[in-house]
Amino acid sequence: MQLKWYSVLVAMILGLVSAQAQINPRKVELFNSDWKFYLGDDKEAKNETYNDSQWRQLTLPHDWSIEGAFNENNPTGQAGGGLPAGIGWYRKTFMVPVSSQSKDVFVDFDGVYCNSEVWINGHYLGKRPNGYISFQYNITPFLHYGTEKNVMAVKVDNSAQPNSRWYTGSGIYRNVWLSTMAKSHIPQWGAFVNTQLNANNALVRMQTQVIVHQDGLRLKASVFTPAGELVNSIITPIESNDTVATINQNIIVGQPKLWSVNQPNLYKVTLQVLAGNEIIDKYQTYTGIRTFSFDKDKGFSLNSEPMKIKGVCMHHDLGALGAAINVRAMERQLEILKDMGCNAIRTAHNPPAPEFLDLCDRMGFIVMDEAFDMWRKKKNKQDYYQYFPEWHKRDLEDQIKRDRNHPSVTIWSIGNEIREQFDSTGITLTRELVNIVKSLDKTRPVTSALSEADGKKNFIYQSGALDLLGFNYHPETYVDFPKNYPGQKFLATETISGYATRGYYDTPTDTTRHWPTSSKAKLTQGNTEFAVTAYDNVAAYWGSTHEETWKIIKKYDYLSGEFVWSGFDFIGEPVPYPWPARSSYYGIIDLAGFPKDVYYMYQSEWTTKPVLHLLPHWNWEPGKTVDVWAYYNNANEVELYLNGRSLGIRKKQGDDLHVAWKVPYEAGTLKAISRLNGEVVLTKEIKTAGAPARIELVADRKVIKSDGKDLSFVTVKVLDAEGNLVPNADNLVSFTIKGKGILAGVDNGSQSSMESFKEPQRKAFHGLCLAIVQATQSSGLVTFTAQSAGLKSASITLSIR
Ligand code: GAL
Repeated sequence: MQLKWYSVLVAMILGLVSAQAQINPRKVELFNSDWKFYLGDDKEAKNETYNDSQWRQLTLPHDWSIEGAFNENNPTGQAGGGLPAGIGWYRKTFMVPVSSQSKDVFVDFDGVYCNSEVWINGHYLGKRPNGYISFQYNITPFLHYGTEKNVMAVKVDNSAQPNSRWYTGSGIYRNVWLSTMAKSHIPQWGAFVNTQLNANNALVRMQTQVIVHQDGLRLKASVFTPAGELVNSIITPIESNDTVATINQNIIVGQPKLWSVNQPNLYKVTLQVLAGNEIIDKYQTYTGIRTFSFDKDKGFSLNSEPMKIKGVCMHHDLGALGAAINVRAMERQLEILKDMGCNAIRTAHNPPAPEFLDLCDRMGFIVMDEAFDMWRKKKNKQDYYQYFPEWHKRDLEDQIKRDRNHPSVTIWSIGNEIREQFDSTGITLTRELVNIVKSLDKTRPVTSALSEADGKKNFIYQSGALDLLGFNYHPETYVDFPKNYPGQKFLATETISGYATRGYYDTPTDTTRHWPTSSKAKLTQGNTEFAVTAYDNVAAYWGSTHEETWKIIKKYDYLSGEFVWSGFDFIGEPVPYPWPARSSYYGIIDLAGFPKDVYYMYQSEWTTKPVLHLLPHWNWEPGKTVDVWAYYNNANEVELYLNGRSLGIRKKQGDDLHVAWKVPYEAGTLKAISRLNGEVVLTKEIKTAGAPARIELVADRKVIKSDGKDLSFVTVKVLDAEGNLVPNADNLVSFTIKGKGILAGVDNGSQSSMESFKEPQRKAFHGLCLAIVQATQSSGLVTFTAQSAGLKSASITLSIR
């Protein structure tokens, strides 16, 4: 009897210990709420006792530029989108519990644009010029504990302009974290995890750093399957005499589930620092088991399967939300791209938000993670070139350490169209940068996006240090690549730079136009609407059309693939037009997230799902000859009908990517039918629309999370009485929200609109506009209403849970 009670007691104690052991002793909190903000400069604001009671209160991430008004005279210039920059200050008051006194406390900034300086309780922590890099400060020595308040002050200085060729945003535009951990812990990015695939299993290799402050510590590594089951754990003693110990551990995974773009399986890795049986620190990361190769003849393969890189270049702005990161907004961009068949992203031309890479891991995208747009030689008067000598090593090292565990990251790029290509300093600098990358990660190739296609004139190429030759533009030269660069591996790091405005068409479409025609020419073409036709026949003089480029990439196996410039329109760089053009024309998808027509060319080529897309709209002057195009796949012919009469069957010939008809316009119904061996595959109809009569609302998600961040993207359509989209409708639509949501932004994809992204109204642009509804932190219903003079209004109810 006594014995029985004793064993119950022992079991209970053991149970308690193991239950305690499950609690993560490391506390990582988002540090985004309750910041005070002041747009302007005040040197005193760094002081602990400064009175910030009059400052605006906000939640990060925050971009003050996107809240401003467009103005040609803003110093960011037209290339920066003509939005304001300047200096801003942020302050946050917070308390730290007494229980943290024996711990180390860190603040992590995922990205601040730019030149941030941080103070804690009046103590200067440091400066970070690079606006895209993540950085951390140890604030332990300066903290007050218990009831005494702490004040963090951050100065953000984006006043030296112009410092970018595109819109950057200004402010603490990514997440901030507060982490509290034991004195002995795994430091920031302190675990490098990668995998090796063998014939019958895979090895997860973990190299972990531990900051050691006590004797007898051990490191426990565990790997979990994508379904969450433990694969195995391993415990290794930590040498006590090191202040920073490095521990290598391997775990074998039998029957590994590979990471691929179609099945992005992720294995969880946990690393626990043990003191006796107590877990004193825990670090968690994810890995993917995959192999890939670039081959001089066969191009790219993932898990031994040849696969073209069907990629797009993406800048970091999120349209109406500006640079302020939002996971759902990034996820939506990636969903739209995935649906097009895109399998790769180039983070032009800087490290992205960490959450963007998490999404790429989870959704299955190959990533080319890029470091710089310039080295020592500037592209703009005030750009990063001035900080490069002092900071490049640190910035590049931090990028590699931060991002090297992501299975999506497949290629490192040390720079885009770097000017040192053109002189011999390019040789030494390239070697230095490649060495920095290799010292931290030898598992991925290093490239640089080169614009000089002639190797004899290209010193970055001549360094011999690149694993993979990345070329931007000039697809006509790709055919000679094996001859000009024998034995080298090829990637088209940037292609096309075609322009288009969604919903805008001019004809004829038989020629390709380059706007302007050369570097010396001025734009003499163009139109007063600051629009570019969407027929994929206008490009920059250095660029090419989508179709001609993809035909070449598709044709040669040794071409690993391409990154199209660009996936989405972005703010800034509105080539070819002068002001008021303020956002780019390059996107396959417009700034609001609405696909332009060429999206469906890619979808028909890059996916296997049935596609039949017809363009343009069907509202023209009577008698005008209109070029009608169809993109299609999974069929061998398309027949076009106008008001029931056949206009003939067309079949793609040779390497054609679309079929076309010249149609004398008459109002009515244009209908296309695609057929495979006589069987109907798809039917598409476009009708001549009447006058605008009503609004229709379509939300991408009607149920969103009550986390204060989640978004519903509501497409606002202007329809005629019959329900047809009115293709040239530009009615002003105003929005009201009742309930638990706020309006985070509005847009319509126009590249030259001067309307604010933040006002509760927007003109339709070619029949469409967008409203972004953001959840608050309370659950309930939101009623979103759109009204416009003379139109029947519409409401939609969203549920916030
Ligand atoms: C490229 C450059 C990109 C963008 C593009 C526009 O040369 O790398 O950043 O400027 O041109 O066509």
